[in-house]
Amino acid sequence: MTTRGQPNVRIRPLAGEAELDLVARRMRATLAEVIGPDGESMYTLEWLRDRVRQHLDGRHVGAAFVAELDGAVAGHTIVRREEGCGLFSTTYVDPAARRAGIAEALLERGEEWIRAQGLERAATHTAGGNTPLLKLYERRGYAVVFTDPDSGMVRLEADLTAGSRT
Ligand SMILES: CC(C)(COP(=O)(O)OP(=O)(O)OC[C@H]1O[C@@H](n2cnc3c(N)ncnc32)[C@H](O)[C@@H]1OP(=O)(O)O)[C@@H](O)C(=O)NCCC(=O)NCCS
Repeated sequence: MTTRGQPNVRIRPLAGEAELDLVARRMRATLAEVIGPDGESMYTLEWLRDRVRQHLDGRHVGAAFVAELDGAVAGHTIVRREEGCGLFSTTYVDPAARRAGIAEALLERGEEWIRAQGLERAATHTAGGNTPLLKLYERRGYAVVFTDPDSGMVRLEADLTAGSRT
C-alpha cells in the first residue's frame, strides 16, 4: 500500500515483542498527547503491553497493524470486535511522519479487517477536543453518535456498507 507522498509506507500486522513494546510506549504517548500529564500516568507500561497482547493472543477478536516507513514503524492502529462493531481502540502516528496519509492508510486497513469479520459498522472513541482525529474520521464518513457529558469523550461511528467506500 502507498500513501500520499510516502511511497515507502507499508501497512502490515504487528510482529514481535520489540514492536509490541514500541506500540505500548506509543499508546502512553497518545494518552499524554490527548489527555495531558494525567493521561500519561493512567496505566503502567506492563498494563499497556498486556492490552496490546490481548489483540494478538485471542483474548480479544482483534488485530494490530503497523505502518512501516523506510523500514521503521511510523504508526499503528489496533482494532477489535466489540458489541457487534469493529472498534478502533487506538491509532498513533509518529509526529515526524504526520500529515502524509499514514493514519488514513491504517484506518483503511482496519476497516478491511472489520469487513472481513462480517461486521458492517466501525467505531472509535476519543476526546471531544481531538481535532486531528475527528477530522480524519469525519472525512471518511464517521459521525459523533455520543458525547459523555462528564468526560467529554466522544464515540464516532460509520456504516461501512454506505456509499462508495473503498
Ligand atoms: C490523529 C493522527 C493519528 C493523524 O495521523 P496522520 O498520519 O497525521 O493523519 P493523515 O495524514 O492520515 O491525515 C488524514 C486527514 O486527517 C485530517 N487531519 C489529520 N491531522 C490533522 C490535523 N492536525 N489537523 C486537522 N486535520 C487533520 C486531515 O483531513 C487529513 O487530510 P489532509 O492532510 O489532506 O488535510 C495523529 O495526529 C496522531 O497520532 N495524533 C496523536 C494520537 C491520537 O490522537 N490518537 C487517537 C487517540 S484516540
